[in-house]
Amino acid sequence: MLTTIPRGTKDILPGTVHEWRYLEEKIRRLCTVFGFEEIRTPMFEHTELFLRGIGETTDVVEKEMYTFSDRSGRSITLRPENTASAVRAYLQNKLYADGNITKLFYIGSMFRYDKPQAGRYREFHQFGVEAIGEQNPLIDAEVIKLGASLLNQIGLNDIKLKINSVGCPKCRPVYRKKLQAFFKDKFDELCEDCQSRFNRNPLRILDCKNPHCRELSIGAPAITDSLCDECSEHFAQLQRHLTAIGVEYALDPRLVRGLDYYTKTAFEFKYTPLGAQSAVLGGGRYDGLIEECGGAPTPAVGFATGLERILLALETQHLLPAQKNTCDVFIVAMGENATQPAFKLLHQLRDSNIAASMDYAGRSMKSQMKQANKSGAKYTVIIGDDELSKNIASVRNMKDSEQMEIPFDTLIDKLIFEVNK
Ligand code: HAM
Repeated sequence: MLTTIPRGTKDILPGTVHEWRYLEEKIRRLCTVFGFEEIRTPMFEHTELFLRGIGETTDVVEKEMYTFSDRSGRSITLRPENTASAVRAYLQNKLYADGNITKLFYIGSMFRYDKPQAGRYREFHQFGVEAIGEQNPLIDAEVIKLGASLLNQIGLNDIKLKINSVGCPKCRPVYRKKLQAFFKDKFDELCEDCQSRFNRNPLRILDCKNPHCRELSIGAPAITDSLCDECSEHFAQLQRHLTAIGVEYALDPRLVRGLDYYTKTAFEFKYTPLGAQSAVLGGGRYDGLIEECGGAPTPAVGFATGLERILLALETQHLLPAQKNTCDVFIVAMGENATQPAFKLLHQLRDSNIAASMDYAGRSMKSQMKQANKSGAKYTVIIGDDELSKNIASVRNMKDSEQMEIPFDTLIDKLIFEVNK
């Protein structure tokens, strides 16, 4: 127990951290290019925020939240997603103050009591963006393009974008009625979850993973046939903008997202080889959420992507970068007299921003050379009695095994020069 982590969590070990950093660096650069600024919100919030924000009838709220009372009896929840928190931070800190569109991005841990399997964890990491304060479909297209550019830049070309419009509070009730009429005769055959969705949120029946429910929903009316003029025009414009900037997409009238706050645009990027976890990136517009959280009516659109899923997709396509060696110089000290001069050199090099290492256990020359090789150092400095008596160090270029003798007083300058060459 003491040496095992909780189910659905994962250590990110030194051998793989560089993969995360690679992805995170791409994300940060792309967000800068697109004009999004980073925000970091707390990992836990008042439970009420998620109940109101995400919707009480969603799977996330009903089954997946890590909710507990703190020592003062307040109900606290580990964030299952970051859109509600971003909106809370936007309102609390008046990020709307200059009246312009507010473009935020985040990278961080989210928590859902999900059934763990490949690509699905209980603590997972999302990168997400939220563009708050603009209703023009140009911003929907910009947000989608940002997602597409990320996946493209890391080489994931096999990804399919699906888009839909889930309407607004004006047209969705009409569609709900049509859907209920369609499923009425099939009600008894629906799974238990869908039977409860029938009244509370019939759109979610279209998203059920149960094969029989999927079969039953064949031929269901498409929401895009029930959209009001405003939603219909917004959706048509979005498609024109996407085409104009070269983003390929397919229409999917069955695409409904798992969180309740969506209005108008909904989209998902899918990487089918990941099977049940094929949704690598998803999002949409949420024009009612800011008002729901106590702000003035404010349109907004965003997405989030699961970093574990992206890394898994990169792994299956052999697109992960190799780990780079970080050690520049390895110092081999032979014999007791050499230890302290070597230790001093180690720290002089580090003070000069050179990545340096040495062995502290007084191991044999052979064993220290093995360590030097393993460290990937560009140069190995050997100091023994012989070198000390001549006031020099032997410096080996690990690439061509050429060895030279360098006087101590020029050693550091020489190593700095060689390493930075
Ligand atoms: P979501 O679809 O619930 O949307 O999650 C977004 C992405 O997070 C998914 O496409 C998936 O890649 C990843 N994900 C979700 N659950 C897990 C899990 N248990 N393990 C690993 N990865 C997971 C949202 O969270 C919205 N906040 C997105 C958004 C932002 N909409 C507007 N703005």
